[in-house]
Amino acid sequence: MFTSPYYRLIRLFIAYSFLLLPMAPALAQGPAGREKFLMDFGWKFAFGHPYDTKKDFDHATGYFSYLAKAGYGDGPADAQFDDRSWRLLDVPHDWAVEASFDAKGSHSHGYKAVGRNFPEASVGWYRKTFFIPETDLGRHIILEFDGVSRNSAVWVNGFYLGTEPSGYASFQYDITDYLNYGGDNVVAVRADVTMEEGWYYEGAGIYRHVWLSKVSPLHVARYGTFVTTNVKNNNAKVVIETTVTNENDQATEFDVVQQIENGDGKIIGTCSAKRGIASLETTTFRDSVRVPDPILWSLENPYRYKLVTILNQHGKMVDRYETPFGIRTIRFDADKGFFLNDRPVKLKGTNNHQDHAGVGTAIPDALQDFRITTLKAMGSNAYRCSHNPPTPELLDACDRLGMLVLDENRVMGTTTQMLDQLKSLVLRDRNHPSVIAWSIGNEEWKIEGNIKGARIAKTMQRYTKSLDPTRPVAAAVSGGREGGISTVVEIMGYNYLGQGTTDEHHKNYPWQYSMGTEEGSTHASRGIYEDDKANQYISAYDKRPMPNFLSIEEGWSYYAAREYLTGMFIWTGFDYRGESTPYTWPSVCSYFGMLDLCGFPKDDVYYLKSWWGTKPVLHILPHWNWKGKEGKEIDVWVYSNCEDVELFLNKKSLGKKSMTKNSHLEWKVQYAPGVLEARGYTNGKLSLTETVKTTGEAVALRLTPNSQTLQANHEDITVITVDALDKNRLAIPTAGNVITLDIQGPAKIIGVGNGDQTSHEPDRFLETVDIITIKDMKEKIVDGLENRPEIQPGYDDSSWNDAFRAENNATREQAQGLVVRGIVELPSELANKKVTFFSKAIGTEQSIYVNGKQIASHLNGGVGEFILDLSLLRAGRNEIAFVVKPLARKFTWENLNTDPGIIQVITPAPSWKRKLFSGMAQVIIQSTGGAGEVTIRASSPGLRDATLKITATPAVRRTFVNK
Ligand code: GAL
Repeated sequence: MFTSPYYRLIRLFIAYSFLLLPMAPALAQGPAGREKFLMDFGWKFAFGHPYDTKKDFDHATGYFSYLAKAGYGDGPADAQFDDRSWRLLDVPHDWAVEASFDAKGSHSHGYKAVGRNFPEASVGWYRKTFFIPETDLGRHIILEFDGVSRNSAVWVNGFYLGTEPSGYASFQYDITDYLNYGGDNVVAVRADVTMEEGWYYEGAGIYRHVWLSKVSPLHVARYGTFVTTNVKNNNAKVVIETTVTNENDQATEFDVVQQIENGDGKIIGTCSAKRGIASLETTTFRDSVRVPDPILWSLENPYRYKLVTILNQHGKMVDRYETPFGIRTIRFDADKGFFLNDRPVKLKGTNNHQDHAGVGTAIPDALQDFRITTLKAMGSNAYRCSHNPPTPELLDACDRLGMLVLDENRVMGTTTQMLDQLKSLVLRDRNHPSVIAWSIGNEEWKIEGNIKGARIAKTMQRYTKSLDPTRPVAAAVSGGREGGISTVVEIMGYNYLGQGTTDEHHKNYPWQYSMGTEEGSTHASRGIYEDDKANQYISAYDKRPMPNFLSIEEGWSYYAAREYLTGMFIWTGFDYRGESTPYTWPSVCSYFGMLDLCGFPKDDVYYLKSWWGTKPVLHILPHWNWKGKEGKEIDVWVYSNCEDVELFLNKKSLGKKSMTKNSHLEWKVQYAPGVLEARGYTNGKLSLTETVKTTGEAVALRLTPNSQTLQANHEDITVITVDALDKNRLAIPTAGNVITLDIQGPAKIIGVGNGDQTSHEPDRFLETVDIITIKDMKEKIVDGLENRPEIQPGYDDSSWNDAFRAENNATREQAQGLVVRGIVELPSELANKKVTFFSKAIGTEQSIYVNGKQIASHLNGGVGEFILDLSLLRAGRNEIAFVVKPLARKFTWENLNTDPGIIQVITPAPSWKRKLFSGMAQVIIQSTGGAGEVTIRASSPGLRDATLKITATPAVRRTFVNK
């Protein structure tokens, strides 16, 4: 059932139309126009296996495989496959974040127990059943994935649709011809992360949204609009290229109406034209609309317009396609940098990967907003999607919140397949006002400095510009600066000044635009101020990580000083899992971030706020809890944009110093507990004060949300900070208490984190679903179905045949009765577990016995679901027996079911827990749909609990595929 109110109305209309128009002919087609349903909810999931076909549910083992014959998807790809025992979940889902950590795991991927060394957790199957009404017949139905990690193969109703190797590509399949109209349909996805794609944490599974779209045969093509704007003298000319496809068997005429809506949804400009299109043709045409006095999209006011493209055929609307866009100008200048709306803007950027604490790469849309807002609050105005196409929702967030984007392709190459990846990125993303340039690649060491690199870059650049002439093309180059990519690319992307000065290159290539695609590569653990090699923590003072790598301050000072450099992207904004340089195991997370994995600020954030931001800043580091160091010298740094700063310890002045632009101040201070105070002066006047106080012991907990309300729409989140307070309600920067969390009301916890790069605590606390197959199955032919002694536990079956051997088919199928016995190996601990047997038919009727006790008698059809009483079961080995009237085949080629069913063991979720790290932890909660009050409680032994109430406010849920 689809939940769109529109759809319900249509259903109602269809249901009652006979009352209004008894003679009306049946509708040949459903709702006119386009519908788009979110398909995230209610997927079934289980692990398969990369090479053990038994563990891969016998997938692709049939005589004819899905590659041999249409519709031959077997195992879970088969629509009939029984997935009742599988785990039920919603996507976005990242199974890697749910895995434990293991030294055998991949360093680049944060040592999670997935990937090549963990075949049992490297293939994931997802299945979902969905209903397609008969009234959809005649429409085109499209299944769209924003991204699946990785090597995903997809089937619908057993029909193989294709494979997408990249975990970063958005891809879609037209499933119109494969569907059951007026019935259920099954989509199956097999994702395989055995091989890695990136050298950083990527997650695993359907970690972005899934959509189901329905369109009329005449429709706007995929990514079929391209909006460009020309602004002159307070007037904008909006030029619209629209690509339309006609899947009808006849040529047709149609009207195109282009409407431009302002931010309030008011139509402010429109145009229309008559067009014609041949059958099965795809054609592109141009329209333009004037917008007087446009509100320009800017960082301060990211104002968006919306283009609504309407196709009317024979007087009836057949498509309505929306394209949000912005009106703005961008200009790069080889000597003067970058201009937005003709105003110079220095790019104050960060590089970021996709993962966040608690949820991995399965980021709810609202968390994208949280991350972009956090970066903006640091003064950042630019985001590099290193090193892959982002999820579309990230770009939506950048559009809405005002963040410039360098949108990056994954791997460089010029074959059709590789250029298609680039094409898909450009066509998908070219209407986003936030995107200011394309990056065709990063640090391609094999080709950077040679002629092949120059050729490949030239071809990719030319191709990109043919798809979007409005933005320049960049490539990020590290070692090979001369003779290769960097000699042809429009924007030279410098990765690290350690590779050499940019001035020399700029002199040699004066026509080229330039930016620091990676710079300032500090290593830091949040809230740690002494290197601790034994525990793998790195002090958070902004120091060079290695002699030839610059600190953040050095990097920014260099870029700020050169007008020709458009700006720089720090490596990185947020910490990310993997690449725990300079350490390996047990560290599992990078140290590069200005913010940790949760988005909690390291001290560098205040340096950036001082020189990137617009507000007054005064920040002291380190904290002032140094028990045992009394009288010892401590480095005190101050980040500020005040002109002068005076430092005091316990009211005694330690001297006033003048701030140099883009720099910081330092004092050596003999430690004594108490109060460190900084006073900032601007124009000779005291403008700001800041204190850091020695705290006492922890006595209570505190919960602080990023918002007091949550939209009750099943998707929205609230991000909550947990910290510990002393008796004066001062937050304790060194607290490391273990916090237990509990939630009541219409929301659930979806992830926890603390930014500790060495933490091996779970990110998620979920119930576990184990699927146990019956093994060592044996069979015996018997002459009746009643009172069989063979079902007794311990019955000697050593002389019996292995069950369902082909050579015994004929005798078995003619027999009056059959007893099948097998072993079920249960976990060693059964308390609190829920054990369910999902039976399938191996006979026309069957009785089932567990350890000699009957659980089903003469089950007709054989299919049932039995929750097994724990008193029936033993830890470890259990016996299961079936007494059946055997199935018999009518045709020799028939495949009879030989699987009597499967056992599911559910272990309830443990309580959610997280240790504070440097005084903080993060909890992310998500709406479960209902409105009302959500109560979150944090507790820790010896501390006063904290209770937080959040209001889930009524909200409209996005239209989604329910079933
Ligand atoms: C760069 C690379 C990044 C990351 C970084 C770590 O060379 O482009 O992806 O690996 O090094 O220092």
